Amino acid sequence: MLETAEVIDDGQAVLLTFQQGERRRFHTIWLRDNAQDAATRSPDNGQRLISLADIPAALRLTEARVEAGRLMVAMAPEGRDFAYDGAWLWQHAYDREPPTRRGWLDAHRETWDASLAERLPTADITALGNDTTTKRRWLADIRRYGIGKLTGGPVEDGALLEVVAQFGFPRETNYGRYFEVRSEIAPTNLAFTGLGLPAHTDNPYRDPVPTLQLLYCLENSAAGGDNRVVDGFRAAQRLREENPHGFELLAGYCARFEYRGLGDVCLQARRPMIELAPDGELIGIRFNNRSAAPFTDIPYADMAAYYAAYRRLGELLESPEMGVTFKLAPGEAFLVDNTRVLHARTGYSGEGSRWLQGCYADRDSLLSTLACLEADARGDNA
Ligand code: FE2
Repeated sequence: MLETAEVIDDGQAVLLTFQQGERRRFHTIWLRDNAQDAATRSPDNGQRLISLADIPAALRLTEARVEAGRLMVAMAPEGRDFAYDGAWLWQHAYDREPPTRRGWLDAHRETWDASLAERLPTADITALGNDTTTKRRWLADIRRYGIGKLTGGPVEDGALLEVVAQFGFPRETNYGRYFEVRSEIAPTNLAFTGLGLPAHTDNPYRDPVPTLQLLYCLENSAAGGDNRVVDGFRAAQRLREENPHGFELLAGYCARFEYRGLGDVCLQARRPMIELAPDGELIGIRFNNRSAAPFTDIPYADMAAYYAAYRRLGELLESPEMGVTFKLAPGEAFLVDNTRVLHARTGYSGEGSRWLQGCYADRDSLLSTLACLEADARGDNA
């Protein structure tokens, strides 16, 4: 509840007092840019109708008061009045100390280790399509943990595309709209052999990387071939605790990744293994021994320590107490946030067969679907 308003800093800002004496300042330019009137924001689609160039640089508040929980202001030299909902201002307040910890996490995200096995987010594929509560919860779990399992799906070629349609669209690549993961006589990629694969994120040589990967099982009678998933964010946090300098090296210098496949593919990217936002938020992991290219962006003086940190991050990712292992049955699948959760598989061979299909999709579509389901559940869209 908004209680009082006072013009401060010669009209460059306003000081608001909310219930229990909580105080928040807002700049006049911020208020003007975020005005909610129909000439500033389209009432139809919510998009901004003006640019900053339409707002006078010499803007100032001439008056501010609270009426029925709303902030009412007058601005010069436009000579216009604007009103702001108090709850909206509280939700959008920015007058606080910035984060100081490197590698902080968004509140919607939670890191995990092997103990996640007891509560691995799982949904029935039919329920995912029929029941919005199941879908909302499963998508929220993907946002929180970056991993979710699915059961009870049809054993049909291409069934994975129906799953992706529940929250987004497949991202087509040089591997196709979706791809087969089974042994090939002359594999174009080590993924298509029976070799074990250490924990990795897929396609770090793309820019941007595929942000989601779905792996869907059609046959799995081979010995071995278990899937393992591990939280790259937890491994990065552990590295930061053990070796803060090593964490900063992997975050501060770009690695290089490359994939040269058949004649017409040469994908290259230059990005750090641990990616932080400018304010230190942990936002991504790229880790893939198969497609790491020669590193040429780390100074000679730091290269040895960089390699030591890279080695330790790999050890953490392979530690038994860090990962969750499971074997998919036909009609089962799992989805990972490929910017965070690494996947691995044990080797397989001999008797039986293993046939998975995989495809990529985009996390922004998943988060959009989730945001709409959450708005519906709150009644915002009623
Ligand atoms: Fe992979």
